[in-house]
Amino acid sequence: MSEKALEGRVAVVSGAGANIGEACARALAARGARVILADINIDGANRVAEAIRADGGEAMAVKLDLLDESTIEALFDTVIDRYGRVDILHNNAANTRMEQMAADGPIGEMTAEVWDAAYAINTRGTMLMIKHCVPHMIAAGGGSIINTSSGVSILGDIFNPAYSSSKAAVNSLTRNTAVQFGKQNIRCNAILPGLILTHLSREMMGEEQLKMLARHTLLPRLGAPEDIANAVVFLASDAASFVTGQIFSVDGGITTHQPYVGDVFANMGLA
Ligand SMILES: NC(=O)c1ccc[n+]([C@@H]2O[C@H](COP(=O)([O-])OP(=O)(O)OC[C@H]3O[C@@H](n4cnc5c(N)ncnc54)[C@H](O)[C@@H]3O)[C@@H](O)[C@H]2O)c1
Repeated sequence: MSEKALEGRVAVVSGAGANIGEACARALAARGARVILADINIDGANRVAEAIRADGGEAMAVKLDLLDESTIEALFDTVIDRYGRVDILHNNAANTRMEQMAADGPIGEMTAEVWDAAYAINTRGTMLMIKHCVPHMIAAGGGSIINTSSGVSILGDIFNPAYSSSKAAVNSLTRNTAVQFGKQNIRCNAILPGLILTHLSREMMGEEQLKMLARHTLLPRLGAPEDIANAVVFLASDAASFVTGQIFSVDGGITTHQPYVGDVFANMGLA
């Protein structure tokens, strides 16, 4: 892919004020895209936009609250006023607040509020972003929508059922979007990150937990925000012009194997 594979394209990235969204916005800008960083964390979005501009890229920050549809409409109005088009939409924002994730425990103790708080941002927010973006993409002759889901969306576990099922709904939304707008040349794909080392995950996990994860990851390192950014750049670009409706794991292979087999075989003296 050429250095400026996304030259002139207009890309909206939600939740771009830190961590994975920041890496994705920077990577899109580095390939020549004009990037709109939309986040409830406007200070973070402004900081990243300034950094992109300092590197010679084009970027602007816009305040967005996915819980408030009027801010989504206002976001796309601002983008169209400024650039006249939208080519790339990366739905990266999610409700990953510590208190939310901590309260998202066993189903037997789940509250309706915690359940709804995951779906309201992760699923409904993503759907509303697509709803308000698609008419502009159609007017521009097509576009690429990339939804950040999660590796846990295809698994079941002992914690975070609201988060993981809200992301499973994002996978379904991805396929529905690909079906409903494919003939208008709009592609829609989802990325399923595995554990990606961000400030948050480093805070939540100690050295011991990171070693356990490393043991189950097929590749010799853990994931970084840039790994997700590389996948986003690919899906946004013409290199992926025949790719739609796909659900891509970017997880170092952690969901590829049955986690207990290695332990069982080792215990039997076979591995
Ligand atoms: N870090 C990981 O290991 C990991 C793994 C799997 C999936 N993911 C997914 O990757 C994406 C980015 O995760 P991250 O680790 O960078 O987390 P993060 O918390 O840094 O990013 C989430 C972003 O969404 C924004 N946001 C939250 N609520 C919002 C709202 N109402 N309106 C607008 N913006 C809002 C936040 O301000 C933040 O910038 C998320 O979709 C997350 O579910 C992350």
